[in-house]
Amino acid sequence: MVQNLILIGFMAAGKTSVGRLCAQRLGWTYLDTDQVIEDKLQCSIAHVFRRHGEEFFRRIELEVLEAVLQDSNQVIATGGGIVTQPAARTLLEQSRSMGSRIVWLQARPEVILQRVGRSQKRPLIKAENPMGAILELLAKRECLYRQIADYAIDTSDLAIDQVVESVLSFLNAGEA
Ligand code: S3P
Repeated sequence: MVQNLILIGFMAAGKTSVGRLCAQRLGWTYLDTDQVIEDKLQCSIAHVFRRHGEEFFRRIELEVLEAVLQDSNQVIATGGGIVTQPAARTLLEQSRSMGSRIVWLQARPEVILQRVGRSQKRPLIKAENPMGAILELLAKRECLYRQIADYAIDTSDLAIDQVVESVLSFLNAGEA
């Protein structure tokens, strides 16, 4: 039996919208690690970065991941940088060995840029040159997403429903 569905992938790859719908369809709880962090600290992610820096954020992100993985029947959308932490990758792998499935949502850099738009919500691409920041982070992270994913889907040219169908088919195939 699948324990949790864990969505990984770069910012704006669709983890939140796809995650919510998958949870609805499965009758599972939807959780977003960023949201859990915001609730826990009572402030926005942008504020956490500004006030305490990335290292602090990563520490809390790891704690939150460990805590949420204690439960099952959840769709968990993770922050785009979670895979950069070796300890987080270990937690994800442990969860997989207990039955979770890890799905990587991908998107082309220009699609990411368009989706992120002028949002101030993403501190790591609020740079003067957002495309440069996206390409740089993607170059560092792609191999990490690939290494840990059980299944990958490029969401760039798909409607949310199509992505959801694809993810659920993957889960069902594992059940058969
Ligand atoms: C981050 C992605 C964000 C959030 C934080 C850092 C990253 O989450 O965790 O701003 O390092 O890629 P989303 O992927 O949900 O945007």
